[in-house]
Formats: sequence, C-alpha cells, structure tokens
Amino acid sequence: MSDEVDDQRSECHKCPPEHCSLEKLSEVGVFYRHIPTQNKTEGLEKVCAQQGYDYRDEIVINREKLPNYEEKIKSFFEEHLHTDDEARYVAEGSGYFDVRDKQDRWVRILSEEGDLLVLPAGIYHRFTVDSNDFIHAIRLFKGVPVWTPYNRDEQTDKMSIRHEYVGKSTGA
Ligand code: LAC
Ligand code: NI
Repeated sequence: MSDEVDDQRSECHKCPPEHCSLEKLSEVGVFYRHIPTQNKTEGLEKVCAQQGYDYRDEIVINREKLPNYEEKIKSFFEEHLHTDDEARYVAEGSGYFDVRDKQDRWVRILSEEGDLLVLPAGIYHRFTVDSNDFIHAIRLFKGVPVWTPYNRDEQTDKMSIRHEYVGKSTGA
C-alpha cells in the first residue's frame, strides 16, 4: 500500500498497484484461511482445537454500536504490537489489517466475510474499517485474553516479544 494515507478507509493502493501473495505474507508469520460463514461453527471449532484457541469473544465495529467510534477507529490505526497473536475471524462486514513486511513497508490486507487472519505476536500492525464502516469480528485467544496494544516506539523495539518475532521471521 502507499506510504501516505489520506483516508485510512480507502484502498490506499500504490500507484501503480502492487500485490502481495499469501506466500509472502506467510514469510512474515501471517496466517490466512477462508472459512465460509455457512461452515463457521464447525470450521472455527476445528481451527480452535488445532491451534489451541480456548477463548473467544465478538466485537461489532460500527458507528451505532461502538461508543466513542471515531476515537476508537483512530486508536486501532496506531501502529502497535501485542505480546499474543491477534486472531480474528470476520463473521460479517470487512476491514483492513495493515502489517509491516520484512523491509518495514506496509502491506494492506483486506479481510472479508469468512476470512480468518492470525497476526503473530510481535508483528507491527494496525487496523481500520473500510468505507463500509462495519465489521463483526470474532476474536480468538489462547488462555487469558490479552489485547493490550503497545504503540510503536524505541521501547517496543526492545521488547522480548519483538526480538523473538524478528528472530523467527528472519530465521536468525
Ligand atoms: C487490535 C487491532 C486493532 O489490536 O489490531 O484489535
Ligand atoms: Ni492489534
């Protein structure tokens, strides 16, 4: 995606557009899988059993349902990392998860109904709704849910989870 973002809800393509393969995404530890919503119950159960997700909750992000909407949308779009994986299944609607690639360039991932996306702990990322302004997501966790965001700065570069992640993704 382009470095400059005028409207975070728009596609923000580079000019000309460049596309990133799923393979390339898996190199930075991003996992993607499509589970059609008609198979949501069984499909998610299977993934949860396989990957050890034993806690889930749901979030609806739209202007009517989420208090302090604009503020939240801004804060989700601050570049951050987590000490746990960020696993999200899109039950309805859509949104953009932006992740940093190995060269620290932003890659925009459009996630739509039925998409399951797992961002690894320690990866720098951000999220925004798209122009439809609506996503209903199921958040999956292992054990106690931790969704504290650490906004990127010199301190987050020094966190052990960041070192672990960089070690894994560079094969160091
Ligand atoms: C999250 C998104 C905003 O942390 O990345 O839930
Ligand atoms: Ni996050």
